[in-house]
Amino acid sequence: MSRILVRGGRILDPTTNRDESGDVLIEGGVIAAVGEGLDARGAEIIDAEGGWIAPGFFDMHTHLREPGQEYKEDIASGGRSAVAGGFTSVACMANTHPVNDDPATTGFILDRGRHESPARIYPIAAATRGLAGETVTEMSALAEAGAVAFSDDGRTIQDGGVMRHVLEYSKLVDGLVIVHAEDCSLVGAGVMNEGPVSTRLGLPGNPSIAEDVLVMRDLMLAELTGARLHVAHVSSGVSVAAIRNAKERGVSVTAEVSPHHLTLTDEAAIGYDTNTKVAPPLRSAADVAACREGLVDGTLDAIATDHAPHALHEKDLDFVEAPPGLLGFETALPVVLDLVRNGEITPLELVRRLSTNPARILNRPGGDLAVGSPADLVIVDPERSWLYDPAKGYSKSRNSPWAGQMMQGRAIATIVGGRLVYHVDKGVLVP
Ligand code: DOR
Repeated sequence: MSRILVRGGRILDPTTNRDESGDVLIEGGVIAAVGEGLDARGAEIIDAEGGWIAPGFFDMHTHLREPGQEYKEDIASGGRSAVAGGFTSVACMANTHPVNDDPATTGFILDRGRHESPARIYPIAAATRGLAGETVTEMSALAEAGAVAFSDDGRTIQDGGVMRHVLEYSKLVDGLVIVHAEDCSLVGAGVMNEGPVSTRLGLPGNPSIAEDVLVMRDLMLAELTGARLHVAHVSSGVSVAAIRNAKERGVSVTAEVSPHHLTLTDEAAIGYDTNTKVAPPLRSAADVAACREGLVDGTLDAIATDHAPHALHEKDLDFVEAPPGLLGFETALPVVLDLVRNGEITPLELVRRLSTNPARILNRPGGDLAVGSPADLVIVDPERSWLYDPAKGYSKSRNSPWAGQMMQGRAIATIVGGRLVYHVDKGVLVP
């Protein structure tokens, strides 16, 4: 196994609050030393001058579309796109075809991940069979097969009794239940946030209360059952406040927010660009501000992309018909660096939310730069300007609202298990 010296960067390790310049030496797939002026003999040198050296990002919410919809993405292309964005670990949702609701599918995804993806792949299994919201999956068999959490993401379990059972069963395997919170009866036919912009565009609105009532229901059920709940892609200010309040009461809840819900409002839909259609929808400026505040104060623990590739012909429909979702991996870092540039969050705290917290929530390795830990690292140039063209990216799809825009900040190199898997000048290197 090779020896790599990452030299002369700003070392950011949220687990020790380390924020100082130095080198990281990698040997045998693990971090061998962290400090200044480390011995470079025989090592491949990666220059991190002017950049950050951080634990690799961990995306706990993605859609890799394999098995079944490989025309949108597969585990290989998704994994390549992930490492190009600085992600060394990725958890993928169960809304595949077939749904990941049985141990064989979980095992298949793990196997494909091991052989095809440069990023580590962690399957999230369905919480109910077929994502139908009726029958709880066999969680212990799924956990044994390698599922890291349970979620019907993309759909919401509408029946409170079923959700209660899901939470109760999850406790038997000490599992995490991830909720996509939308009450379908309140969403109705809504395709974007309900408000002045939806009225102006003549599009049916999906009100934020559709999210809020489900978040509140599930917080109460988590409190009742004592199960571990994680709220996916929070987009509403009321939901942020409810989660904050639940945490204060001691409810076992964590939450994530996506780069798009931190930076884009419903006004992004004014040109009817279907790449701005997501579930839950982009909301008001007040909601975006509340999400940013929630991320900064720790109410929202993690940043997760909800990377959701869709083919051109699917997004090339009118706004009502097009499926929701946008690409996340390769734009996440420059998009969320906006909060650092604005002085809202420090680089160290941003890395905690991109890396350490999601690894801890899913109870997987990663998220630190301790000697002996797996060498999963990202080197970031926070200033680098570049033009984002999805056609030049690694996803099979192109659905991004940031296409054609100048970005600031980029992953320069990504290392997984001690192997350099991406370098900005060379592209993705393995497999
Ligand atoms: O926008 C979204 N797209 N939100 C989801 O929850 C599902 C996802 C998808 O699978 O396309």
